[in-house]
Amino acid sequence: MASQQSLPEFVADLEKANFLVRISDQKRVDEIPKILEANPTKAVLIEKIKDTEFSMLANAYSNQGMYAWAMECDKTQTGLKMAEKAQHKIKWELVDTAPCKEVILKGPDVDLTRLPMFLHHDRDGHAYTNDNLFISKHPDTGVYDWGVYRSMFRSKNEKSVDMTCTSHRQRIHAMAAAAKGNNLEVAIVIGGPILDKISALVGVSADTDDFEVLGSFYGAPAKMVKCETIDVAVPANAELVLECELMANEGLAFDEGPYGEYTGMYGGGLKHNYRLKVKAMTYRKGGIYQHGTIGGLHPWYTDNMLQLPAIEADLLGSLKRAGIVVREVRAPAGGLSNIAYAKIKPLGGGDSKQALGIMLTCSKQGLPKIAMVFDEDVDIWDDQAVLAAMAFRYMPERDTVMINDCNTMTVDPKCVAPGVASKIGLDCTIPLGPSWNPEEFVKSTVADLGNPPTNIKAMTEDQLTSDMLALITKAPRSWREILAHYHGQAYPVVYKAFGNIRRKLGRTNDPPWYRYTISDSPFAYEAHPRAPSNFDPLHVAASSA
Ligand SMILES: Cc1cc2nc3c(=O)[nH]c(=O)nc-3n(C[C@H](O)[C@H](O)[C@H](O)COP(=O)(O)O)c2cc1C
Repeated sequence: MASQQSLPEFVADLEKANFLVRISDQKRVDEIPKILEANPTKAVLIEKIKDTEFSMLANAYSNQGMYAWAMECDKTQTGLKMAEKAQHKIKWELVDTAPCKEVILKGPDVDLTRLPMFLHHDRDGHAYTNDNLFISKHPDTGVYDWGVYRSMFRSKNEKSVDMTCTSHRQRIHAMAAAAKGNNLEVAIVIGGPILDKISALVGVSADTDDFEVLGSFYGAPAKMVKCETIDVAVPANAELVLECELMANEGLAFDEGPYGEYTGMYGGGLKHNYRLKVKAMTYRKGGIYQHGTIGGLHPWYTDNMLQLPAIEADLLGSLKRAGIVVREVRAPAGGLSNIAYAKIKPLGGGDSKQALGIMLTCSKQGLPKIAMVFDEDVDIWDDQAVLAAMAFRYMPERDTVMINDCNTMTVDPKCVAPGVASKIGLDCTIPLGPSWNPEEFVKSTVADLGNPPTNIKAMTEDQLTSDMLALITKAPRSWREILAHYHGQAYPVVYKAFGNIRRKLGRTNDPPWYRYTISDSPFAYEAHPRAPSNFDPLHVAASSA
């Protein structure tokens, strides 16, 4: 799978892996949103759509199962593998032509209404193309970036694009172009396999050519082909390309939105954004138009959740570089990329808090807002295990880290200033250090004495009573040790024998077992009971005994 797949090859593989729902009846564009809403966990291929030559693929990178499949690993390992791949680069190669050159429409022939255009959410400002991989070069360095940005229909050759996040590279390129008095040449690639998109989202530094990273994900050079009207190259497996001039000189002066965002809400209402002129439209004949699902009533199963593995990879890479022993990171789907967990092995008392600081600040995505760290024994992919550790390994007054005025995306309705958020980390690890007793956190595993020995000679109550007294006189015993010793005897006899000597027994102060020993008092280590009090600092063993 790790090769530069065409979209039809990718669709065929999706179907084989049972990730695809195929709809063969012709549909109208206005029927599309509810079809997508009805199939949240699958990719949807609508073969025929009225009034357009394109078939349509959507929701084709919408859940963690798909990301793991694309990375050929278990879902717990996706981020790890991505972080690893993001560290390497392989130079790309230019090829002469590609399937996306089968149809070339330039100038007045450009017509975005050839694509399936539809209103996705009730209050959207207009129809959007979403599976948009924007490609541009930094105007000063020439370094390539690609990233996903939604884009709204304005006219048959004109669009608006959402570039309100100040840390995203396409916006930085646009600003740099405007500073020189220029617009920015941008190619929008629509349609491609998950692997390409995963590599586009993973965090790399601004001096990294994203297509060299794509090569690392393939394990071979990415093949690229030149555009027709702009000096930009695009991956040769592109299904459909919109060659554009981003009107950077006009500034963020055009209406864009509202849009049903990845938050499941309308994400900041009407925005001021850039305008694009589409200079050419090139595509594979009989092509598949890919649409990115975002928003709706189950936003946790949408294509925008590609942010989840991107965040997992960013956090894993950064934690490792900081010397934290990190095993796994999970951005749970329901957290919509604003929540992340890490499973770590703290080596020193400060590791868990350091890890939280890193998790809250390191991702290119400006997310998550809420981070939690857990010990190695917690299965962070099991929601019950996560909650249980939060419940009893986290103490608000000492295990909370807050950082104000951090980056976030511009769609969080609780932000006072758009794109600026406070962040919180919850340390749910067992604290290290002399003032903590790790025994307090030991799990209460169930008792299993195994099969009783064969050929046991049954003892009478009297025999067992005197035998048990001798056993405990020899050395203190826990109830488990006593049961193990008499395993195979009838349990009522064992319990009665114990009852017979109970008045002669007290408990030793030998945590964690607090064994039975011969004693005049229930607490063998304490001559006098405590005076009654409403304050009971430690209702277990007294440390002074
Ligand atoms: C389906 C999808 C749609 C997205 N739409 C936008 C968007 O409209 N605007 C934006 O700033 N980021 C958007 N993002 C997030 C960016 O693609 C992501 O942060 C990316 O890393 C930015 O890349 P860059 O900084 O390398 O250009 C979207 C992500 C996905 C998966």
